[in-house]
Amino acid sequence: MKDTFYITTPIYYVNDVPHIGHAYTTVACDVIARYRRLRGEKVFFLTGTDEHGQKVARAAEEKGLDPRTWTDQVLPRWKEVWERLDISYDDFIRTTEVRHIRPVQEFVQRLYDRGEIYLGTYEGPYCVFCEEFKIEAELIDGNCPIHGRPVERISEDNYFFQLSRFQDDLLRLYQERPELVAPEQRRNEVTAFVKGGLQDLSISRTSFDWGIPIPWDPKHVMYVWVDALQNYITAAGFGSDPERFQATWPADVHMVGKDILRFHAVIWPAMLMAGGLEVPRTVFAHGWLLVGGEKMSKTKLTGIHPFDLLDHFGVDAYRYYFLREVPFGQDGSFSWESMVTRSNAELANGLGNLTSRVLAMVQSYFDGVVPEPPDRGAGGRLADGAARLAEEFERHMVALELTEAVGAVAEFVREANRYLVEAAPWKLANDPDHRGELAHSLYASLEALRLLAVFVSPIMPGAARRIWEQLGLPEPLDAARLPDAGRWGGLQPGIATRRGESLFPRLEA
Ligand code: MSP
Repeated sequence: MKDTFYITTPIYYVNDVPHIGHAYTTVACDVIARYRRLRGEKVFFLTGTDEHGQKVARAAEEKGLDPRTWTDQVLPRWKEVWERLDISYDDFIRTTEVRHIRPVQEFVQRLYDRGEIYLGTYEGPYCVFCEEFKIEAELIDGNCPIHGRPVERISEDNYFFQLSRFQDDLLRLYQERPELVAPEQRRNEVTAFVKGGLQDLSISRTSFDWGIPIPWDPKHVMYVWVDALQNYITAAGFGSDPERFQATWPADVHMVGKDILRFHAVIWPAMLMAGGLEVPRTVFAHGWLLVGGEKMSKTKLTGIHPFDLLDHFGVDAYRYYFLREVPFGQDGSFSWESMVTRSNAELANGLGNLTSRVLAMVQSYFDGVVPEPPDRGAGGRLADGAARLAEEFERHMVALELTEAVGAVAEFVREANRYLVEAAPWKLANDPDHRGELAHSLYASLEALRLLAVFVSPIMPGAARRIWEQLGLPEPLDAARLPDAGRWGGLQPGIATRRGESLFPRLEA
């Protein structure tokens, strides 16, 4: 029985090193995976690399290397980025691994045995940068509409998957299970596309050999996308560990960029239905990071390496910024200026300042110990805000509305800072008669910080840990579980806090 929340990133082409567009997908998945773990769910978070196909083979050729040497060389350049971005993946699959190749051959053989695959001839345009067959009508001056580069003409004997046969099944699926494709606008696009009719899909090539051999006719190698999509089942144990596969599949979320939605929302479900497997629960397509109004890409030489930003902003601000700045699901632009502004306003002056002020006052007025408020149950205004945060955060995270979830946190930081200004503990401290009120306001502020650490932990795990440590909480943050850890009043009076360094540096404009 399925008992695991299963979330995947696309697997990335290793023709080059990553840029911040790739990191955007992966960070979003990491936030969701961490949130689910925080809820106490068993999570399987998968990422990996897409290593076959012409795009990778040509990149290797340009370096004068065979593809295997090249992919082995470039792989660490991907893993180092995920490490610095605090990506908590549970597994990393490479499509060149035996544990992938063998089950892929088994699955495709199954489709062949079921009569879903036939031999035919393919003639038409192909974009190697997309690794995608194109139709004449979508080309712009003979170029790929996404990459702006010339397409190639293919004419060869290929095996075909009978995709066209699945038109009605797919349309029924979109209707019966609207959550399969999200956001809604994307579902409408996909539905319209399928209504327009589907062509059978060429799934093999004979003109190059960097791919998985077709088991019944090894002159052919598998079309890279047919190989790649199956990473989602092979890593989950298909063809190797039936028990784990049952506990994991279907995927709860395939997170993808909108450029690769059709592969995931049309071809992939059709392949799965053809093979008698369940289709994923949700394919979510996010937008693009744009440069000059176009998709950031290495092909167009507009790719920014994540390290260029990480060195300056640090990992927490990095993770926070992209989710907060670009409404999740839509396209958006990155700018150095807006990243500095947001980081200073919301992190250094917002959350960071709140933390240091509260802890400094607790140090001055209560020797650094969490005070006992006169009535711990009476939370007051800040407690109402915290309840709203908990409700909104959960609702938006479950719905994959990441920008709104981050927004709920930002709103609560503002509320807590406002509360501090209005309660003005520094004034209360002057008058011994106000000792109870002083204890109340600082207890409430500390409790707000504890809750912020909890809710911020999927987004900025490092900053959350530092807040937690400064609060001196005895149990590790990793052991905190929602909804309990998110309820007001959990903080125990008497704990010794530990003032630390400021959470976020203030950056020069
Ligand atoms: N290898 C395929 C995916 C196979 S999944 C079975 C692939 N790889 S990719 O490296 O080109 O892209 C991977 C992901 O990065 C896609 O989701 C894509 O949308 C995302 N991004 C690449 N450039 C991007 C931006 N400029 N902005 C946001 N995401 C973008 O496609």
